[in-house]
Amino acid sequence: PPELSCSVRNIGSTSEGRDMIVFTVSSGQASRGVWLDSTIHAREWLAPATVVNIMNKVVNEYGVDSEVTDMLDKHDMHFLPVMNPDGYQYTFTNERLWRKNRATNAGSSCRGTDLNRNYDWKWGMEGVSNLPCSDLYCGASGGSELETQAVQNEGERLAGTLDAWITFHSYGNMWMHPWGNTINHAGQTCERADDHAEMFALAEITADAIQATFNTRWARGTSCEVIYETTGGTDDYMKGAHGVKHAICPELRGNGFIVNQNQIRPSFEEIWNGLVAMFAEL
Ligand code: ARG
Ligand code: ZN
Repeated sequence: PPELSCSVRNIGSTSEGRDMIVFTVSSGQASRGVWLDSTIHAREWLAPATVVNIMNKVVNEYGVDSEVTDMLDKHDMHFLPVMNPDGYQYTFTNERLWRKNRATNAGSSCRGTDLNRNYDWKWGMEGVSNLPCSDLYCGASGGSELETQAVQNEGERLAGTLDAWITFHSYGNMWMHPWGNTINHAGQTCERADDHAEMFALAEITADAIQATFNTRWARGTSCEVIYETTGGTDDYMKGAHGVKHAICPELRGNGFIVNQNQIRPSFEEIWNGLVAMFAEL
């Protein structure tokens, strides 16, 4: 098979000193890229398991599987499988259902910021908490956390080359895109982007391909409409601050954070089918 180049970069480190590692896979043919990350929320173990399976597929099957070849001929793929390594480690050693990072908070004995409320875009407006003990604590300011800063910087650096940014969560069978907020933050009507129709059309194609894999049902639409109001999430930041057209927040299959390992393979298979359908449109 033809050569692929793979690079590994450290984009930052956490309050406990762990590295944040991005893997970039490139055929050398592509002029555009796509970013995929997971584990912003520590307890959502199906997300990194699925993303690492996607990495495995593209690294091993370029020039072998035509779907992989087509994908990488047009798009470099940037992977950050573990955005929140401190929290992820803590779910193995201390508390399986920990969500946030593990940074200390001034004036509180409670640790951690919800990194998916911490991005510096409409920060702190809706669906957040200002209490450090809350699971939805949005931090002291927009982009206050090291992990958020590292990913924001990558977004700024790469956005001009990216056709899509996908930030994987679990769980709930949802394929969501901006915005998370309501109009005027009044909590009444979810705000839709000017290019909502384009985002929604791509979400329909992608979610339909996912559904067709195992005959399941996936919701799709703005995150505000599909799940609840939020501000300071990855997808809203990447679209709002850096103009990434398709900034997507999937909630993978299932109905809990604790998943049997027999769910990893089907999660990968259905998401792979969704990505193949999606990339063909980019
Ligand atoms: N479960 C996710 C969370 O609570 C959903 C985020 C939805 N908002 C968004 N901007 N994607 O963080
Ligand atoms: Zn999550």
